[in-house]
Order: sequence, then C-alpha cells, then structure tokens
Amino acid sequence: MKIAPSILSADFANLERDIVKVDQAGADYIHVDVMDGQFVPNITLGPNIVSAIRPVTELTLDVHLMIVEPERFIDDFAQAGADIITVHQESTVHLHRTLQMIKKAGAKAGIVINPGTPVSAIEEVLHLADLVLIMTVNPGFGGQSFIKECLKKVTQLAELRREHQYTYEIEVDGGVADDTAAACVEAGADVLVAGSYVYNSENVAERINRLREAVK
Ligand code: DX5
Ligand code: ZN
Repeated sequence: MKIAPSILSADFANLERDIVKVDQAGADYIHVDVMDGQFVPNITLGPNIVSAIRPVTELTLDVHLMIVEPERFIDDFAQAGADIITVHQESTVHLHRTLQMIKKAGAKAGIVINPGTPVSAIEEVLHLADLVLIMTVNPGFGGQSFIKECLKKVTQLAELRREHQYTYEIEVDGGVADDTAAACVEAGADVLVAGSYVYNSENVAERINRLREAVK
C-alpha cells in the first residue's frame, strides 16, 4: 500500500519544508491538487508551482487535475515535472485522446471519477490507464467526510483489472484517515491520498505510520 500525502493541506508559504517532511516520513507519492475555480469551486496552483517543487523531492509527483478541458495544459504539467497526470472523465470530451496526450508527453496517465460517476463511464479506456483514482468526496476541498459508497467502485476496478490483466494502480482520494484506510485497502486500493489527516498534525510521520498500522 502506498501513501500519497496531498499538499492541499500543507502550508503554502512553506511548501518545501512540508514536502521534505512527508518525504522523510516515508511517503510514496506527493499528491498535487490542481483546481481552476470552474470544474471545482476552488483555485489552487498551476504548472509553475509544480516546477518549483520538482527539485525538492525525488518522489513521484502525482498531479490531480480538477480543471475543465485538461488537454490544454497536459504538456505544461509534463514539462514542469509531473510523473503522473490524472484527468477527470467529467472534464474532457475526448478522454481517450487526452490519455494518449499524457503518454505522448512522457507522463503516466491517470483517470479519475467523481462520486456520481460509474466505472462503466471509463471502461473503454481502462487499457490506457496507469492509474485510476476513485474520489471518495466531491472534489474541491480538503477535510470533507468520506463517502463509503464509492468503495464498491474500487472493488469493481480490482475485478476488471484481474479479468483483463490491466496494469493500473487504484487510488482513493478524500476523507482518508485512520478510521477509513482499512476499508479502502480491503476494497482493493493500492494508493491512499491523505491531505488533512497527514498535515493537520504537528507530527506527520506519526500520521503516516498510523495509516500504515490501520491497514495491517
Ligand atoms: C479534494 C482533493 C483531495 C484533498 C483530500 O478535492 O482532490 O486530494 O486534498 O483532502 P482530505 O484528505 O483532507 O480529504
Ligand atoms: Zn486529489
């Protein structure tokens, strides 16, 4: 099981410090939430911040795009140093083409679906995915409550992967904490994103350890 702290809940005036903290505490990915104020009701950061944090860590930069028409910015995020670029099915008309663009730009391609979107909406493109992200909150903010009904989609994705020998990792995002992590992994998740749970603490290492303990 991998842990991807979301820097959405980090101190933006001290991003380097907060990334190094989770890196040293044994995080696997750094989850970067990009919001445009249109696809979701919040604005965060763009490719310039991704390139600024790129030299700070060697960990995988897992960039979650919550923006309309993400195809406009794929090359910019890839050049900025994103390792994985994940796009919402709901945000792009030509999902298949957008995934191809991500690969062509040299990054791993991720697909993400909102709580209201079924797995069937992405079934035709799963063979192109390096990562599939299941939102367990409606995207836009950290600190929201986990929507447990979304976990059945994690199980569906694990079954489809087995059936078709797909190779994607399954990630969950939203409301992951020590009381929800085990259910995510039992459902079939490989990567847990955690923002407020990790960063709303003086001791991020202890939080990361507690997540690992919770799924044992
Ligand atoms: C929500 C973001 C999440 C967010 C999760 O729109 O995609 O990555 O940071 O925050 P928590 O872990 O606090 O729910
Ligand atoms: Zn996210």
